[in-house]
Parts: sequence; C-alpha cells; structure tokens
Amino acid sequence: MKNIVVLTGAGMSAESGIATFRDSGGLWAQHRVEDVATPEGFQRNPQLVLDFYNKRRRESLLAKPNNGHIGLVEMQHEYNVQIITQNVDNLHEKAGSSTVIHLHGELMKARSSINPDKVYPLDPLNPDINVDDKCEDGSPLRPYIVWFGEAVPLMAEAEEIVRRADALVVIGTSLNVYPAAGLINYVYAGTPIYVIDPNEVSVSRGKVHFIRKGASEGVAELKGLLKEQFEHNKNKQ
Ligand code: OAD
Repeated sequence: MKNIVVLTGAGMSAESGIATFRDSGGLWAQHRVEDVATPEGFQRNPQLVLDFYNKRRRESLLAKPNNGHIGLVEMQHEYNVQIITQNVDNLHEKAGSSTVIHLHGELMKARSSINPDKVYPLDPLNPDINVDDKCEDGSPLRPYIVWFGEAVPLMAEAEEIVRRADALVVIGTSLNVYPAAGLINYVYAGTPIYVIDPNEVSVSRGKVHFIRKGASEGVAELKGLLKEQFEHNKNKQ
C-alpha cells in the first residue's frame, strides 16, 4: 500500500464547528497567545489559561467529525494513511483514523507542570482542570498542550513518517507555526504534495497541487487525484 501522509491543522475541524486560530474572528483575534498559550502565561495567570482550555475541551467533546475526517478514514481501505495533526481535538480518532500523531498535544489529557512525561487522561464526564488540581509529583496539573516556546517531542517521529510518504496531503493549516510547518521539507523531491484549503497557502516546494476547497469537498476531490497519480505512475513503470 502507498503511504499517504496527511498534515492537518485547525481548518480540518472548522466544518465541525471548531474555531481556527488565524482566520478573521479566529481564536487569536480574541486571546493573546502570550497569555493563554505559553508556560509564562500559565505561571502568571493559571486560572485564565485553564478557563481557555476547559472551554475548548468542552466544545470539542460536543463536536462531531466532518466529511473530511470521514473521507480520510475511507482512504484507509486503499492506502496506509498516517495523520500528523496540529489539532488538539480528537476528531480524527472519533472518525476512526487508525494512526494519528498529535504534534501540539491533546485536549483530553493533562500533564505535570514539571515533567512532560507524566500524562493523564481526563474524564469526559468531568473534563475541567481546576486551579488546585495537583499531579502526583505535587506540581500543578496543566493542559497537555505544547505551548509556544516549548519543544515538540514528536517532531523526530513525524519527520521520519514524512520521509517515507508517497504523497503528502496538507489540510487546513496556514503553515505559520514551526517546526510543524517545516515538515513539508522532509518529503523526497518529486513526491506530490496536495494542499486542501479554501484560502491561499504559500508552499515553496516543487510539485504542489492546490485544491482551493474546504476539508470535506477537498478530501472528496483528493481521492480521485490520488488514484490518477498512482495509476499514471503504474503506467509509466
Ligand atoms: P490557522 O488558524 O493558522 O490556519 C487555519 C487554516 O485553515 C487557514 O489556512 C484557513 O484558510 C484554513 N481553513 C479555514 N476553513 C477551512 C475549511 N473549512 N477547510 C479547510 N481549511 C480551512 O491554524 P493552524 O495552521 O492549525 O498551536 O495553526 C497552527 C498552530 O497555531 C495551532 O496548532 C495552534 C496555533 O497557535 C498552538 O496553540 C500551540
């Protein structure tokens, strides 16, 4: 089976009702990144940060996968589909994707403030983290989110997956945030890249096919394009 690697961002979940970050009216228009998505912000005002993620966790618990997520699951019948997501919701898993790497953490988990490896699942029936909640090591419990200024522990694994891609699909990310955005540089020369986004995204690589559509429509179109791509290659061999 061909390896199809899919890098997703907030736009993947937009049709499920989850706000993106940088679109007009997005999360970063309403909150300062320094306040809610940095370790320093958490030290200054833990309540503000916990409120921000408690709200997002509750929203994501109510959200349902859209046809884009479902389309990617259907592709598993024909391809080895590996998803690398910047999203902290679990909609890829809810849809049924079997291989998902969360580069920026997961809303439904909490972690120690001093040891990133001490990670705990949160209870969907009681999902909030409260300001007095402590980890076993005595440190305040914090969201399991990779904040700005922190290392992205799963990058090396993600790079390796992208290196083995027969096609890379990029869905719903403005490619503004590194190191995640740099993953597109790990595909081998000549590997096709498909970018699904209703807006323009700048990608400085050779062979890029832009699908200027939302995730659901875009994934439906992608299926045909991948078939053509691999049939075409077969005919050449
Ligand atoms: P952005 O908000 O930067 O980009 C969202 C992208 O989704 C844009 O390119 C939109 O055009 C596109 N989009 C909007 N609606 C869409 C739809 N229906 N279908 C497909 N695409 C659509 O979000 P990310 O690139 O994911 O990190 O942001 C990257 C990281 O920055 C996030 O993981 C988060 C944020 O700060 C942290 O919080 C650590």
